[in-house]
Amino acid sequence: MSKWFETWFDSEYYHLLYKDRDYTEAEAFVEKLVTYLNPGKDALIYDLACGKGRHSIHLNKLGLNVEGSDYSTNSINYAKKSENSRLHFYEQDMRDAMPKQYNYILNLFTSFGYFDSDEENLNTLKHIYNGLKDDGTFVFDFMNVDFVLKHLVPREITMKNGIEFHIKRELNNGKIVKHIAFEDEDKWHYHKEKVTALGYDKIVEMMKKCGFKVMDTFGSYHLEPFDLQNSKRLILILRK
Ligand SMILES: C[S@@+](CC[C@H](N)C(=O)[O-])C[C@H]1O[C@@H](n2cnc3c(N)ncnc32)[C@H](O)[C@@H]1O
Repeated sequence: MSKWFETWFDSEYYHLLYKDRDYTEAEAFVEKLVTYLNPGKDALIYDLACGKGRHSIHLNKLGLNVEGSDYSTNSINYAKKSENSRLHFYEQDMRDAMPKQYNYILNLFTSFGYFDSDEENLNTLKHIYNGLKDDGTFVFDFMNVDFVLKHLVPREITMKNGIEFHIKRELNNGKIVKHIAFEDEDKWHYHKEKVTALGYDKIVEMMKKCGFKVMDTFGSYHLEPFDLQNSKRLILILRK
């Protein structure tokens, strides 16, 4: 049986629900990152689980050499419209080995923790480690679980193109589960998103287990210092 994320991320309703994803915030974050990382013009950057490519496209606009990949065929087809000689997109399951070695690998906007077991999560991180050149850098941008659980919005209704999405959030068995129900064309649909509630300690432990060195820890897209209680994001800068 296929796992929930193998169908949901490619469905037209997923793309409708998240159609207003913030490009301005993503682009400002990418600019901050580039100033901080200062990659050479020919550094090869890999945006793993890139979605429709909002970060990759902006990195490339800043003059960088970028590849992006995602599991979702629809997202990659959309991203491919922006391809050029220094920007390429393709389908890839992040549970598989990386196709080559990169100077930088980015995993942004909570694009991790969908898998059932610690082992799958750890294997994915090992592939990322092996997919970096010596001295390569991994940027891992995840939700700060401590903050998210404290501020979890249990119920929400949001309207997109005339469809009313009813969203329920809960912590269940170590996963933050988002139940999404909506009616379209006289039929009710139900989906769920599950992200493992990986806290700061657990994430750092997993990274170190794979061999990564933690170089910096930020708590927001403005690269402010990380604070366990108050930061919305957990952004780790890791070195091979
Ligand atoms: C929260 S979205 C973020 C997308 C993108 N990084 C962004 O910020 O717009 C998570 C992404 O992870 C992708 N994804 C989920 N499971 C995956 C897998 N096993 N391999 C590769 N991508 C996956 C989804 O298709 C989705 O595009």
